[in-house]
Amino acid sequence: MHLLLNRLILGACFALGCNLAYAAVNPAEALAQKSGCLACHGISQKILGPSYKDVAAKYKGDKSAESKLITKVKVGGSGAWGNMPMPANSPQVKDDDIKTIVQWILSL
Ligand code: HEC
Repeated sequence: MHLLLNRLILGACFALGCNLAYAAVNPAEALAQKSGCLACHGISQKILGPSYKDVAAKYKGDKSAESKLITKVKVGGSGAWGNMPMPANSPQVKDDDIKTIVQWILSL
């Protein structure tokens, strides 16, 4: 039933190019979109920052990654991927939202 529903939503999304229906499928990605993260990060492509799949691969098996990355996203910084700095995302993005997005990134 769920699968069928997702298909219908995705189908509609494909046809209409809508963001809202997609949010029903992946809330964390919609949150990343809403929070401005996807302006600098692609899921599979590097933009200004690394792709989220590259981030997930880099920290695979690192148990402290989640808390490290939550702090990094909040305060910003550079040096892990190059000289381009990430600006601070806190307080404009809520702590809970950052946590949700980081958990999603690490699951990719
Ligand atoms: C203005 C562009 C920009 C925005 C907006 C941005 N980032 Fe980044 N992000 C970067 C850059 C550049 C880096 C690489 C920093 C480095 O090399 O240490 C980065 C790195 C990261 C990393 C990896 C950090 C590490 O130390 O390996 C994560 C995770 C991340 N960003 C998540 C987010 C999330 C979540 C948001 C939204 C709340 C966000 N970013 C918004 C540019 C951005």
